[in-house]
Amino acid sequence: AKDAKDVTTEASVPEGGGPMEGINTVVQETSDLTGASTTVVVAILLLIIVTAVGIAVLCLRRWWNKRRRKDKKGFKGAVDLTGIQPDGEELVDNMEENETAGEEQKEEQKLGRLQFKLDYDFNSNNLATTVIQAEELPALDMSGTSDPYVKVYLLPDKKKKFETKVHRKSLNPVFNETFNFKVPYAEITTKTLVFAVFDFDRFGKHDQIGEVKIPMNSIDLAQTIEEWRDLTSADNDKEVLGDICFTLRYVPTAGKLTVVILEAKNLKKMDVGGLSDPYVKIVLMMNGKRLKKKKTSIKKCTLNPYYNESFSFEVPFEQIQKVQLVVTVTDYDRIGTSDPIGKVVLGCNATGTELRHWMDMLASPRRPIAQWHSLKDPEEGKEDK
Ligand SMILES: *[C@@H]1O[C@H](CO)[C@@H](O)[C@H](O)[C@H]1NC(C)=O
Ligand SMILES: *[C@@H]1O[C@H](CO)[C@@H](O)[C@H](O)[C@H]1NC(C)=O
Ligand SMILES: *[C@@H]1O[C@H](CO)[C@@H](O)[C@H](O)[C@H]1NC(C)=O
Ligand SMILES: *[C@@H]1O[C@H](CO)[C@@H](O)[C@H](O)[C@H]1NC(C)=O
Repeated sequence: AKDAKDVTTEASVPEGGGPMEGINTVVQETSDLTGASTTVVVAILLLIIVTAVGIAVLCLRRWWNKRRRKDKKGFKGAVDLTGIQPDGEELVDNMEENETAGEEQKEEQKLGRLQFKLDYDFNSNNLATTVIQAEELPALDMSGTSDPYVKVYLLPDKKKKFETKVHRKSLNPVFNETFNFKVPYAEITTKTLVFAVFDFDRFGKHDQIGEVKIPMNSIDLAQTIEEWRDLTSADNDKEVLGDICFTLRYVPTAGKLTVVILEAKNLKKMDVGGLSDPYVKIVLMMNGKRLKKKKTSIKKCTLNPYYNESFSFEVPFEQIQKVQLVVTVTDYDRIGTSDPIGKVVLGCNATGTELRHWMDMLASPRRPIAQWHSLKDPEEGKEDK
């Protein structure tokens, strides 16, 4: 701000005393040279100075605002920190650099905004959620645009998932679609509403653009809420679903594929009370059709089940390139429907560890190849629009 003041004083120099003489000479000389009247030259000079000062002030103000914004962010960190330890102030100074660095990254990665409406009806226990529109979504496709759609669900159960229509080649889609959740008032404050914005991709995996998460205890349900919120990146809180270990063995001459489900660990808790009753389902697929389905036994009350159960499938050699093996860990539920915890898809068009495991199996016929896999979202890849 000091600099800004200095510049402003300079701007008023032409009306001042001393330096006026120098300017007078310049004006006189220019006037003589160009033949224009001194008044015109003075006017032009003044215009140039005013413009230059104006630009300088604008730049300074921008810079100043940016700094202030950063300071504010730093201060927010301070509030959080002081909650944890009493003399967090010293830390804040150090933190500021880290915060600033983090913020710059965030600023680079603008994810756009989403407008939504929430309306809870206390009589019918109905939460009406409307996805109104999104703005300034990032372009994820090669063609410089995206094909966005929005998934709406309530955490933690994620049982009921709604989806809007896909809006082709649009970074500012207007969805205007309403979805209803039946949730008793006693439960609603324990839920978090999620609007997850995805980029539809016919051939590959649907990329998540970003999301808006609204803890229902953070809003006033007594009134209709309509607001805009910035999308945040969903990568930070990728759910950990657990890991599974199994062996794959293929005997080409016999056309026999053998899967031994060994064990799983760190499975996500599906029941509110704590432990799950997990079993593993193995499905052999070809061209999107189920050929065969097998299941392990159910292990009671554990998140680290041990199975050591073997399953064989007949897969002739000419088909082994075309089949997919879907291994799903599911929480058995005697009363309701069983919830899938996570899955792994193997085959020639799989990716990552799954593809490598499959290729290792093909490269070493007759030998069982063991591998740990991280479970993926059981819903992933299911969208067939
Ligand atoms: C800032 O980041 C550096 C490494 O990036 C880390 O070593 C340091 O502890 C961080 N400072 C604070 C206060 O978090
Ligand atoms: C959404 O739909 C309603 C009626 O269905 C309409 O009145 C409203 O103008 C629409 N909003 C937008 C943003 O298109
Ligand atoms: C993998 O291949 C199968 C069968 O060839 C096909 O149904 C499936 O859509 C493919 N998956 C992907 C992600 O390309
Ligand atoms: C797993 O099962 C096989 C065959 O049923 C058995 O030979 C092996 O000892 C078992 N392994 C363990 C560690 O229990």
